[in-house]
Amino acid sequence: MSKAVLVVGGAFGDEGKGKVVSYLAVKDKVDVAVRGGVGPNAGHTVVSGGKTYKVRLVPTAFTNPQTRLLIGAGVVVNPQILLEEVDLTGARGRLGIDYQSGIIDEEHIQRDKVGHLKEKIGTTGTGTGPANADRVLRKGKVARDILALQEFLTDVAGEVNSALDEGKQVLVEGTQGTFLSLYHGTYPFVTSKDTTASAACADVGLGPLRVAEVIVVFKAYLTRVGEGPLEGEIPTEEVVKRGWGEFGTVTGRMRRAAPFNFKLAKRACILNSATQIALTKLDVLFKCDAHVKKFEDLSAEAKNFVRKIEDEIGVKVTLIGTGPGVDDMIDRRCLV
Ligand code: GTP
Ligand code: IMP
Ligand code: MG
Repeated sequence: MSKAVLVVGGAFGDEGKGKVVSYLAVKDKVDVAVRGGVGPNAGHTVVSGGKTYKVRLVPTAFTNPQTRLLIGAGVVVNPQILLEEVDLTGARGRLGIDYQSGIIDEEHIQRDKVGHLKEKIGTTGTGTGPANADRVLRKGKVARDILALQEFLTDVAGEVNSALDEGKQVLVEGTQGTFLSLYHGTYPFVTSKDTTASAACADVGLGPLRVAEVIVVFKAYLTRVGEGPLEGEIPTEEVVKRGWGEFGTVTGRMRRAAPFNFKLAKRACILNSATQIALTKLDVLFKCDAHVKKFEDLSAEAKNFVRKIEDEIGVKVTLIGTGPGVDDMIDRRCLV
């Protein structure tokens, strides 16, 4: 029997979970990767084999061609986006969607692009929130109702639990970030579901005792798209000057930015019962550290920053991103 590894975001999404998961999928020879989280409001960028992929529903572990790819019952799916990504990522034949994953239809998308959701909350406009609202009202469609999805349907909770019983490597991918959680985030400027590790477990049908490691991903600085508080927010010109300028994968909106916030990060680690931290974009903070592969080779400033995180939060930083490529990673998991 084995236990699952869970990857979740520690801030406002876009922490670089896509890259962390695609690295782990190959490095750890993951047998089953299962996507929890909210829906196609997520956008993950994966740079692998010289190609850049942007995926919103297919698990980012697709970079390992041996990995079985699953989407949990808790996720809401836009069938059209999913089918496009199946072709893009080569997932056909190894992708499974739970019978009861929720469905986003055109009307949900229209409702997400007007009024309160667009103007006050600044949602992604992908129909994710309205689809979850209809689900709560028990009138939304689920995957088994959709003709085009029949070939992918499976019992995801059954598959994932059996894989663990057989001692296989299972990786759970969360989406968004802890402070976009409907329960624990900056309400009302949040997404339409809980986004913490416990929610990711429920999304895919895993009980809380079936998880060995919770990896919480932080970027070396904070970004946020849409409305809502961002302590220490930096003016746009300064964001650009520092090289922190980013644009949303789904919406193309410029991301707001602020320095790393130790207090928020500590709370994220508590809310997710983090056992490890993955820190991405260290090379953006410390330019001379681009593509470094060993902790010893980092600059003194970068090492001090990592140590400060570990000291203040009390969780080891085991994975460090030093560039956009899947291989631009320092792996210190031997420390835990
Ligand atoms: P999640 O929403 O958390 O999955 O993050 P993401 O993968 O969606 O991030 P997104 O694509 O929104 O933006 C992250 C960008 O940073 C992508 O272009 C990644 O390729 C890139 N990236 C990820 N890790 C690193 C890193 O360590 N260094 C650098 N320079 N780029 C990185
Ligand atoms: P919704 O999830 O589309 O309803 O959007 C609600 C809030 O969450 C908005 O501020 C969005 O910008 C934000 N959000 C949702 N998904 C993501 C994501 O994947 N990355 C960053 N922000 C997101
Ligand atoms: Mg993203």
